[in-house]
Amino acid sequence: MAEWHEIGPAADMADGHYQSVEIDDIPLLIFHLDGHFYALEDRCTHDDAELDGGTIENGCIKCPRHGACFDIKTGDALSAPAYEPTDSFECQVVDGMIQVNLA
Ligand code: FES
Repeated sequence: MAEWHEIGPAADMADGHYQSVEIDDIPLLIFHLDGHFYALEDRCTHDDAELDGGTIENGCIKCPRHGACFDIKTGDALSAPAYEPTDSFECQVVDGMIQVNLA
């Protein structure tokens, strides 16, 4: 069953950017990429570090510590030294507000 949480106005996040939020003690990064919104747990599976502060490159977030890349749409680890995906969560925009499903 879906468990939608409101993040904030979609209009406040420019395309190609992301923001960090915490919901129910889960640190998240919310991305606006090519007109769509995506959410990943803010956790690099290489060393449990934050991905916040990393750069967006070719649809991936690049870990600021050792450079592992995670697919923003799926959370898949696409390059060493990370090999396990980070959790991804469904997003939607309702009445102009970004929502994330933590179910
Ligand atoms: S902690 Fe992210 S690549 Fe090492």
